[in-house]
Amino acid sequence: MLNDNTSIRDEDTSCIFVILGGTGDLTKKKLIPAIYKLFSDKKISKNFALVSVGRKNLSHQEYRDQMEQNTIKYGEHQFNKVKWDEFADNVYYNAFDMVDDNVGYRDLDTFLKSLDNLKQTKGNRIYYLAVGPNMFIPISKNLKNNGMLENQTSWQRIIIEKPFGYSLDTALELQNSLLELIPEEKIFRIDHYLGKEMLQNIIAIRFSNSIFESLWNHKYIDNIQINSSETIGVEHRGSYYEKSGVLRDMLQSHILQMLSLICMEPPINLDADSIRDEKVKVLKSLQLFDKVSAKENIVLGQYGNGEDNIPGYRDEENVDKNSIVPTYISLKAGIKNYRWGGVPIYIRAGKRLDKKSSEIIIQFKKLPGINIYDEYKYTEPDYLIVKIQPEEGIKFQINIKKPDDGNFIEKVEMNYCQTCRYDFNSPKAYEKLILEIIKNSSALFTRWDEVEAAWKYVDSIENSISKNSTDFPNYKAGSIGPEDASILMGETKIYRDIEGDKL
Ligand code: BG6
Repeated sequence: MLNDNTSIRDEDTSCIFVILGGTGDLTKKKLIPAIYKLFSDKKISKNFALVSVGRKNLSHQEYRDQMEQNTIKYGEHQFNKVKWDEFADNVYYNAFDMVDDNVGYRDLDTFLKSLDNLKQTKGNRIYYLAVGPNMFIPISKNLKNNGMLENQTSWQRIIIEKPFGYSLDTALELQNSLLELIPEEKIFRIDHYLGKEMLQNIIAIRFSNSIFESLWNHKYIDNIQINSSETIGVEHRGSYYEKSGVLRDMLQSHILQMLSLICMEPPINLDADSIRDEKVKVLKSLQLFDKVSAKENIVLGQYGNGEDNIPGYRDEENVDKNSIVPTYISLKAGIKNYRWGGVPIYIRAGKRLDKKSSEIIIQFKKLPGINIYDEYKYTEPDYLIVKIQPEEGIKFQINIKKPDDGNFIEKVEMNYCQTCRYDFNSPKAYEKLILEIIKNSSALFTRWDEVEAAWKYVDSIENSISKNSTDFPNYKAGSIGPEDASILMGETKIYRDIEGDKL
């Protein structure tokens, strides 16, 4: 039953959302604000409860108060106190050790069952593992041993945050252990970039526009650039980052997801598996690295101190003073298939750079005959830019004759700013992903074979790069990254927008 004409609540989505890791950064900054927004927009059933589990001793009310403050601080939409209070009535907190305390799980199960009666949640559960990867298996085992993962008359799902393992071997081990506890269709592996509006839009831009798709291959595209730069450092996540570095934190997941969507073949339909079938083929076609190709095509970096006392990576909390973990990568990738053979894909990702932005740049080839017109010799190539963040939209840069000025060519942009048109109403990545989980739709989650192929690629880099502590730090916090990085692009120019700013 709908409550009013704006409501899209569906009673079948009744459930208890259990967050294991209820006091962590992800929960505070992303999960609670997203679930609050979904609830207050009536996008999820009113038969709903949220139960967080953490180690800190807090009462239900203390937890609600802390989360209210976090939602005001980190939420990406306007905060509404009345709506928050309505939501907070459904929020609970339990404290126990999630790895070792079996009694804690038994009590949690009893508590959840009592909530089922109170909130009409029918035994349906989502367990969100917002914890470090070393806790995925112990927590899943505890849930299983306490009968919390199966109930004939209801559904249960497990959500796993990235990174899914630290290498192909460890990911495989994790996958096999999980499959002993819960079937694949109940596992949702999160890559929050898949919830970003413009990543979903890539499929529409490519496959609903004849002008793009007919040119989308090595005959017309000179190169592709995928950039993801951040201004923040590792913040309080030093111990996690020391094990991940940029390779596991960004490349294995977010960057390779962008790459596979941009380069995949048209899927036979838009179902989750058809799209993932095509993405996985791209990942499997990536050219693996060996020591020689890694030396020629990869530049790693680590940030040093910056202006205004910004600490270098080695001075961050829980980071080794001689750490050789890279916080930046620039690499030239290649795909071995008929569509993309010979087209370089330049990837750049890093922390503590000069600006926060993610985008994909498609650089078209220059017309072969263009040099016969002296006036057109120095024109820029055409570019299509998919702007992922902070602004969402697309830009198309082409050449045009300046009016009344002989044959002087200038570049112009056709700019579609999605943010300007839809800003406040557009759902943020975690809102979208959580809603998909509740609706049991797996299209925006990574399938095991994608994860596997992505690890093969990242392992080939990890096993081929030389590591030397004297190489780092090699870029200043707040800069554009290591100097050597632009050398990889050879003659290819870094895209600059109309104002001359580099993205
Ligand atoms: C996370 C990484 O997955 O993505 C972080 O662990 C990174 O290190 C973040 O900062 C970037 O996400 P976004 O949405 O801010 O680009």
